[in-house]
Amino acid sequence: MAISEEAILKSELRWAMVVGAIVAVILGAILYAAIAMHINPPSNREYVDPNTLHLSAEFTEANLGTRVDPTGQVVARIIATQFEFVPNCIVLPAERDVTLRFTTPDVIHGILVTGTNVNTMVVPGYVAQVHTRFTKTGDLLMPCHEFCGLGHTQMLATVRVVPPEQFRPAPDGRIACGNRR
Ligand code: CUA
Repeated sequence: MAISEEAILKSELRWAMVVGAIVAVILGAILYAAIAMHINPPSNREYVDPNTLHLSAEFTEANLGTRVDPTGQVVARIIATQFEFVPNCIVLPAERDVTLRFTTPDVIHGILVTGTNVNTMVVPGYVAQVHTRFTKTGDLLMPCHEFCGLGHTQMLATVRVVPPEQFRPAPDGRIACGNRR
């Protein structure tokens, strides 16, 4: 017996509804991640010359690490380079808005801070900037997550999140991890 045209139409409509529901669930998950969990693609676009990083004001070696700006904003500046982070440990306060600024003089790297939503690519020629607020204290691992060469697996740093009362920068606003670089 041939299937009637009406039965085919009904079956197609049912499948269309199933597909529509799946699309709605996926869109909902994306919106939930973006709005409720603050997981977004980076939106900052800022250029820097990778050839003169070490000469330009912001990313000279003496300027790297965590510093509290005169406005009170906590900013950490980090260079990702084959195959290390400079500095390889940064101190940041919990429960406070912080800004992380990365750039690289060589190839594409990527960073994430374990257990947080901090995750960005670090591309030569650009400054990668992340605003966040850490809720847990402790030493968080910050590995490079983009294959950048033979030493990629050894490329990692520590983000030391301390309670707000233990975050005591020097008079010049700087704070570093003990005797580690
Ligand atoms: Cu840097 Cu992988």
